[in-house]
Formats: sequence, C-alpha cells, structure tokens
Amino acid sequence: MDSGRSGRTSKSDPRRDGRRNGAGVSRPGSLVVVGTGISLVGQTTLETLARLERAEKLFYLVTAPTTEAWIRGLNPTAESLGDCYADGKSRYKIYQEMTARILSAVRSGLQVCAAFYGHPGVFVSASHAAIRRARREGFAACMLPAVSAEDCLVADLGVDPGEDGCQSYEATDFLISRRRFDPTSALILWQVGVLGETSVRKGMACRPERLAVLTAVLRRHYPPRHRVVLYEAAEFPTCDPVIKRIPLARLSQQTVWPMTTLYVPPKPSRVVDARIMRWLDQT
Ligand SMILES: C[S@@+](CC[C@H](N)C(=O)[O-])C[C@H]1O[C@@H](n2cnc3c(N)ncnc32)[C@H](O)[C@@H]1O
Repeated sequence: MDSGRSGRTSKSDPRRDGRRNGAGVSRPGSLVVVGTGISLVGQTTLETLARLERAEKLFYLVTAPTTEAWIRGLNPTAESLGDCYADGKSRYKIYQEMTARILSAVRSGLQVCAAFYGHPGVFVSASHAAIRRARREGFAACMLPAVSAEDCLVADLGVDPGEDGCQSYEATDFLISRRRFDPTSALILWQVGVLGETSVRKGMACRPERLAVLTAVLRRHYPPRHRVVLYEAAEFPTCDPVIKRIPLARLSQQTVWPMTTLYVPPKPSRVVDARIMRWLDQT
C-alpha cells in the first residue's frame, strides 16, 4: 500500500513523503494529488494544507483568482496548469498535457503536489491518470480526499443521499450512453453547461438545442412540473450559493454555465416489497 499517509513516521521521513511505492521499491520523486474544496481556504483540510506548503514542486488548477493567490503565497514553486487550456483545444489533449507536466517533475526526483479545486478525484481525468502513470513507473503516488461540489450540494439543498439513494452522472455520458437510472432516487448531473462539448471556449454555456434534448429525455421519466435545481456552490465563505428551482418543463429555457450542477429530486418513493419485509422480520 502507498505509505504517503502513515501516521507513524516523522515529517522528514522519506516513507511519509511517499518515496516508497506500493511494491516497496524506492525511487526518488513522488506525487500527492490534493483538492482545495470549492469555497476558498476553509474547505482545505489540514493534511492538504501541509502538502501544499511542503511540496518541492506544486502544480494547481483552480477556478477563483483569490484561491490562486492564496496557493501562490503558500509555496513559491506553485505553477498553474491553467495554461494547458486554449480556445478550441480538445479536453482530451488538455488532460494529457497536464498529466505530462506533472509526471515530468516527478521523474526529475521532486516531491510533487498537484492541487485541483473541489475533490481531486471527482471528474478530473488528469489526476487519476497522473497517479496511475507515476505508480506504473515505480514512483509513490496517492490522492487525498476533499470537499466536492456534490458535498456542498448535500449541505446547501438539505438533501440526504441515504434517504432515497442518489445517482451521479456526467451529463454528456448520461445522454449518449442512455444511462438507465431510477427516478425514485435523486439524480445529479454534472457538466451540463458543457453538454456534448469536446473542446473548451471562454464563456461557454450549454447550447439551447442540447439542453432541449436533455430536458426531453428527463421528461420521459418525470412530470413537467417536477421541480429541478440548477445549483452553484459558493466559492467564497461570505457568499451564498446560487439555487434556482424550476419546473422541469422550463429547464430548456435556462442558461446553464459550466460551473452549474443539475439536481433532480426523487419522485415519490417506491412501494416496499411486503414479501421481503416479512422475510426480513422473520430472519
Ligand atoms: C470538471 S468537474 C470538477 C468537479 C470538482 N473536482 C469537484 O470535486 O466538485 C466540473 C463540474 O463540477 C461541478 N461544479 C464545479 N464547481 C461547482 C460549483 N461551484 N457549484 C456547483 N457545481 C460545481 C459542475 O457540474 C461542473 O460542470
């Protein structure tokens, strides 16, 4: 197992700093991937903060300029991965470039930290790819958990995924893979604002004709007056989240930005299976 989080080793111990990989082979250079949460500073765990400060090379990808300024103040080696983005460039190419930059620093023998906003493992291909590749090449690599947009949504909307269950999909994948889901459980659709986009453009919002198709697909499962939520978690502790509740029938008329997540509440609960209930009572 990766030893990057062992509590029994000292601060300067190479094992704690992740210089030993899962197979027990030591190689200079390591990678820890962390998340800064959604809201500035307060959602960064103490463990993540220590990794940000201590890294010999720090890469970051965040959305808010204030978060960027804070990160740069923590560690003079901080370098943004934001310049991998360019208008019209494919998302696949962008993530490949990010992975390559992170790996090149690891190969040079440094203890590298890569920080992404939110949870670094939630809808972030480059983070998982970098860890897989680093491990394949014999370097220690691990990911620390963090606060994602979904965690903020649960808190801000006051919904408990344990009550009816909860399904979470990337919006384009939800459409093109014709995902089968249970409308009596909650449905969370990510990246609706970039529905069907393989490349990125500044200021992009979901194209109305695509939003209309998504709305039509959802309409097969929910009544037109079913109220859905367009949700944006606050990026600053002093701000409120944006919570827009609308009937499903009006979804296609909305402007949906890349940072928006769509929450579709569950339809009324399923009828419980009386036979299984009786059997459970008897066993
Ligand atoms: C590339 S994913 C990154 C997710 C991020 N790693 C996380 O843990 O939340 C981008 C998507 O996350 C969601 N997202 C990001 N920031 C958000 C925010 N402030 N409020 C609501 N959803 C957000 C949106 O669905 C957006 O399209």
